[in-house]
Amino acid sequence: MCGIVGYLGKKKAVSILIEGLSKLEYRGYDSAGIALIEDGVVKVQKRKGRLANLGETLKDTELNSKIGIGHTRWATHGEPSDLNSHPHVNGDGTIAVVHNGIIENYIVLKEWLVSEGYKFVSETDTEVIPHLVDYYYNGNLEDAVIKATQKMEGSYALGVISEKEPGKIVAVRKDSPLIVGVGENEGFIASDIPAVLNHTRDVYLLEDKEYVVITEDGIKIMNSKKEEIKKEIFHVTWDVDAAEKGGYEHFMLKEIHEQPKAIKDTLTSRIVKGEKIKLDSISLTKEQLENIDRIYIVACGTAYHSGVVGKYVIERLAKVPVEIDIASEFRYRNPLINERTLMIAISQSGETADTLGALRLAKEKGARIIAITNVVGSSISREADDVLYTWAGPEIAVASTKAYTTMLIALYIISLYMAEIKGTVKQSEIEKVKDGLLNLSEKTVEILNNTEKIKNFVEKVYDQRDVYYLGRGLDYAIAMEGSLKLKEISYIHSEAYAGGELKHGTIALIEEGTTVIALATQEDLFEKMVSNIKEVKTRGANVLGIAMEGHDYIEKTVDEAVYIPRVMPILAPVLSVIPLQVLAYYTAVRKGCDVDKPRNLAKSVTVE
Ligand code: G6P
Repeated sequence: MCGIVGYLGKKKAVSILIEGLSKLEYRGYDSAGIALIEDGVVKVQKRKGRLANLGETLKDTELNSKIGIGHTRWATHGEPSDLNSHPHVNGDGTIAVVHNGIIENYIVLKEWLVSEGYKFVSETDTEVIPHLVDYYYNGNLEDAVIKATQKMEGSYALGVISEKEPGKIVAVRKDSPLIVGVGENEGFIASDIPAVLNHTRDVYLLEDKEYVVITEDGIKIMNSKKEEIKKEIFHVTWDVDAAEKGGYEHFMLKEIHEQPKAIKDTLTSRIVKGEKIKLDSISLTKEQLENIDRIYIVACGTAYHSGVVGKYVIERLAKVPVEIDIASEFRYRNPLINERTLMIAISQSGETADTLGALRLAKEKGARIIAITNVVGSSISREADDVLYTWAGPEIAVASTKAYTTMLIALYIISLYMAEIKGTVKQSEIEKVKDGLLNLSEKTVEILNNTEKIKNFVEKVYDQRDVYYLGRGLDYAIAMEGSLKLKEISYIHSEAYAGGELKHGTIALIEEGTTVIALATQEDLFEKMVSNIKEVKTRGANVLGIAMEGHDYIEKTVDEAVYIPRVMPILAPVLSVIPLQVLAYYTAVRKGCDVDKPRNLAKSVTVE
């Protein structure tokens, strides 16, 4: 996830671009850059770090250009650095491009362009674009962009300028957002509406493969055959703050709703029907995998909970014993580590001190480390031997949602990869799980479109002192995460229990009116879970049951039932956590809590 902007008009572009980027920093902030056409020549300025660094660089430079494009980056391909920042340019620097998205076939395109004599300077996927536009350029920039995009697979929102046509911005989108701002004698492009709201409230909301040409004569929108498309202007009535959250009241709710896309992006190019699983640049051979006799998954907080699911899944598919550990415990318990140990360190931020400490300890003792993280270039990603990124985009709310579900996806990918190489499960079974994964994104949409019952159940939760979450197997792992979500943002005490363990103590706390959230998505454990639900029901609990569609038998035992779409039970965690995120969110809202910034918590904990 990155943010792009563009401006062409009568005013100085630089300040408009920087201001626009400042409204898009929520989309990424590891580097920023602009390209202007200054005195007939493309001039690029870009810097690693927050937008303020770029502002500092520009402060003493006189820039008068009335046309330019800008970018704020959330790295996916290539660590955050000046060189990998956008805009990217062609060989002679006459064409500049900003890009939000991922060009999935960039390796093939790069190899081809190199064979055509093009030279690359960055590690990014984006750099293929200015070279492609250059390759196809024959006197008309939009023609070249159309031809270039016809070669590109993946997602993109692009802004392109060229000094050969200094009064023109060409833009297009596919699977990445892009809007066009319509001002008086001026035009804008932006990844999101807030970037233009100080200048205009009239925008075009672009659809996929709509090409935009902005010149001093106006704004033209067309298809790839250059046929003009007439679009309605959308007049924005919300304020800037609401717009930054995409119209959602809080970042947490926005991020909950971003999960379908985040899941899809994290699977992109790694799981492809009928093809072997690819782990980016990680390659483990059969011998290396067979040499591993133990896996430690180490993490903190929500990332730790994803690891609990990971343990079940890796053991089931790859048949290697897995220990899951809280990083701060692992570090100080003299864990048994040697060269036959594989550590999977999971961290959204890639900066959590205890996870980093655990990683260093394991590395010192000869273990191989795979990191799962959301932040390219973070400390954990740099110190691990291999990294699998979750392509969730920046997560702003302290309570993690989309980072968690994409961590689960990364763990499924790693498990399947190991199973495929080691041959621990049949290929047909692997294909079934892959299919299931590829269908998950649309199933999450179904859940998100159907949250009324959960919202109503908030009335049974918000005034409780204690809430209990129960589950068995993978449902226990999800109970842990659901419980954490509730306590961290609504300040209600909650605990997760393994269904079978409840009767060994905690059931003493269940009394008339106690709220219990019971997960029963695992078919082989369904009957046993129903018995556990009965145990709390007979002691007066008010139960919300979460089961798979078709298991409506659960309604006989619970007060309210919520169903998730049918999936293989092993994949159910990705779906069953969503109603729990929604429940925690609306409970916190009902209580008037500061949802995005809960008390005493921090998004990233870089101290022990
Ligand atoms: C903090 C955050 C949690 C997060 C945990 C681990 O406690 O508030 O939401 O799960 O750190 O963070 P990481 O960045 O390592 O995933």
